[in-house]
Amino acid sequence: MEIGWLESGEEIKEELTKIRRRFHQYPELGYEEKRTSETIAKLLTELGLEVQKGVAKTGVVALLRGKEAGKTIAIRGDMDALPLQEVSDKPYKSTTAGKMHACGHDAHMTYVIGAAKILKKYQARLKGNVKFIFQPAEESIGGAKPMIEEGVLENPKVEAILGGHVWPDTPAGSIEVLNGPVMASTGQLYLEIHGKGGHAARPHENVDPILIGQEILQRLQVLSSRMIDPLENSVISICSFQAGETYNVMPEKAVLMGTIRTLNNELRLEIPEKIEKIIENVTNYYGAEYSLNITHLYPATINDENFTMFASASAKELLGKAKVLQGNKPSMAGEDFAFYLEKVPGTFLRIGNYNEEQGLVYNLHNPHFDIDEEQLGKISALYAKIAMDFLAE
Ligand code: NI
Repeated sequence: MEIGWLESGEEIKEELTKIRRRFHQYPELGYEEKRTSETIAKLLTELGLEVQKGVAKTGVVALLRGKEAGKTIAIRGDMDALPLQEVSDKPYKSTTAGKMHACGHDAHMTYVIGAAKILKKYQARLKGNVKFIFQPAEESIGGAKPMIEEGVLENPKVEAILGGHVWPDTPAGSIEVLNGPVMASTGQLYLEIHGKGGHAARPHENVDPILIGQEILQRLQVLSSRMIDPLENSVISICSFQAGETYNVMPEKAVLMGTIRTLNNELRLEIPEKIEKIIENVTNYYGAEYSLNITHLYPATINDENFTMFASASAKELLGKAKVLQGNKPSMAGEDFAFYLEKVPGTFLRIGNYNEEQGLVYNLHNPHFDIDEEQLGKISALYAKIAMDFLAE
């Protein structure tokens, strides 16, 4: 008998909508996802899964064992909300001032719960295991890495991983798959330039950290255009430049902060050295000192080509060819799903969320952002089918 994936998704759509709305009403920030974590653990324990709580503080991992032994695939959903005031008159809007699920993680968790429900229904036909990973703190300092360090990809050993993100540019009802890079690496730059303060009328006696700062800022853009292969993608944006207090006093110090992003994990490791060279040269020229701190946050998220092709074929069977779009435009935003993909092959799907009629036109992290609840059952079924197909392979 054929498995009725879409019917199974449709059956639980209302229940999933309730679950999603509950998450949406009670948003929690990274590593504070206590209530969220309790809700997930309760639902999956009731479902009869092996549930582990408190992984990387607030993470939850649940295992569904098939009837027959086999491979293990993981499906991941992120749990955290954003420090943002929601603007909405919907009955399920955030009940917590200044916190909101504005990045769709409420939907991501619901898809994974939905997939667990559907796969549980077909447990007797499952060969191998499915691990459901609910991960904290994607938006802040990253929960993926600590979850991996706590062994989430072991016992049983995970051989492939599936994840996704609601995507505002992709039409609701469709998904988008990308081979190779899908999201950028992220890094932070903190630079202090120490000059010599003094009277603004006697600049020759001072060392002007503002002038030096602006020269560094401009040369960092030259780095992207002249020192990095133009076929590679990189962004260096200085987003904060602080110096000085008044009109006529040249300050002692300037502080610059910014972000560094690429789609290439080797280039990512080469950029800091290039940046430091520029800073060293410019500050040297003017006789200033500097202190520089570059922190690597998330690697670039690189989809595995084989697994992506496999997932795409499976998705086409379920949604129809026309609803599975081949994307070719990665995003320069970051995503800590990257850490899993450094360890096991997998893919990070884009779940279409654009629907003008429903007013779903807002970007991620926008106070008006909302998700298309019509897709909850369908995407759950999609996750479940890809997992089952992979295990059957
Ligand atoms: Ni997100």
